[in-house]
Amino acid sequence: MAVRSASEGILSDDNSSKRNELIELLKRSYWMEIETVMSYIANSINPDGVRAQEIIESLQADVQEELGHAQQFASRIKQLYGVVPGSLNFNAEQSYLQPPEHQTDIVHVIKGVIEAETGAIEHYNRIIELTDGLDYVTQDMVIAILRDEEAHRRLFEGYLREYEVEGLA
Ligand SMILES: [Fe+2]
Ligand SMILES: [Fe+2]
Repeated sequence: MAVRSASEGILSDDNSSKRNELIELLKRSYWMEIETVMSYIANSINPDGVRAQEIIESLQADVQEELGHAQQFASRIKQLYGVVPGSLNFNAEQSYLQPPEHQTDIVHVIKGVIEAETGAIEHYNRIIELTDGLDYVTQDMVIAILRDEEAHRRLFEGYLREYEVEGLA
């Protein structure tokens, strides 16, 4: 006897085209997280100076969180019958998080992190809207990830504020 598909929700046959659309958005999320891991590793090691320490420690912790996000997106891609893409499909986009000319340029790093988190927040809000009434499991997962990204962004906005007050940003 053939195994029957679920009749409701994102795994139903009726929703196969929406499921494929969602898988593509999840793949993009996966790549965004992977690139963020790379950028945060570099930016948690490169910076020099007394004031760099807080940023370094903060980004070191974020590397693990972003890696966890990438793993969650990858699992969900598989659960929706997609395939987690191979590394040859990767395209880098984070021009704003490349190493600055001077490794004491902490403002460059802070602004780059805020840009990366803002991009993630926008993309994840799109997924939350798209999955509404369609895929509550993905929606629930992405809401939890969005909560992390909003916290990251707010933390780095606070760092930037300190430099702005001193006229350094
Ligand atoms: Fe993330
Ligand atoms: Fe983040």
